[in-house]
Amino acid sequence: MIGVFDSGFGGLTILKAFLDKLPEYNYIYLGDSARAPYGNKSPELIYKYTEEAVDFLFKKGCELIIVACNTVSAEALRKIQQKWLPENYSTRRVLGVIIPITEALVEEVKKSPGKNQVGIIGTRSTIESKAYSRELEKLSSDLEISSQACPLLVPLVEEGWVKRKETKMILKYYLRPLKLKKIDYLILGCTHYSILFKEIEKVMGKRCQVFDSPKFVAEKLALYLRRHPEIEGKILKERKMVFYTTDDPQRFRDLGEKFLGQKMEKIEKVSLQ
Ligand code: DGL
Repeated sequence: MIGVFDSGFGGLTILKAFLDKLPEYNYIYLGDSARAPYGNKSPELIYKYTEEAVDFLFKKGCELIIVACNTVSAEALRKIQQKWLPENYSTRRVLGVIIPITEALVEEVKKSPGKNQVGIIGTRSTIESKAYSRELEKLSSDLEISSQACPLLVPLVEEGWVKRKETKMILKYYLRPLKLKKIDYLILGCTHYSILFKEIEKVMGKRCQVFDSPKFVAEKLALYLRRHPEIEGKILKERKMVFYTTDDPQRFRDLGEKFLGQKMEKIEKVSLQ
């Protein structure tokens, strides 16, 4: 099975892209809604929650886990990959969402000489971690990087306020510094921002190319599975899905089906502590 972990519902946008590109596999989704949002929490707490979540998914039989949450990918993934995994599940893997999108962006930059202004938006923790900038700088020394935390966007999306004028105003406020810098590329470094994709594109204008993770993460996962038959071969291919949440399953379904764009059959409530 392929595990997909997120702090809540947002990662369902990533699972949606997996179902489009790689529908044959079995997936387990875990949303830690009871403890979300992670985006304003300390690195220590985010790491602790992540350890509990990946342990849960491995115990459920996942061979591979994709951390769909940007905050977790930024704050906890490296330690999980370098220390926790070798000590606990040395043959299994945990991958995140930052490398796929930064690699795709740098490939695009190479095709467009003269365009090198990159903007990153995300939760407060993601931006403070500087994880996106670090990965981009490893891949290219030519980039001018600016970032902006947008902590109000997650609650606005969860309230369904996507089309409201208040949301547009807040978006304009957050994106203004990036617009003034004449950003050529903007990375949506948070699961929830996919839902605001069109609104963000509109504010940024035509000169800016907006990069959203789901498509790139699905492409990189397909490539990863092709390159790792020892893992791919162990993943069941019965097109089954199970959803776990740490909070109320009905609330998870109500918002989750909007993010996933389809019905969710089985949702179970679990405790990770
Ligand atoms: N999933 C988180 C992310 O992508 C957003 C929601 C949260 O803060 O928990 O950063």
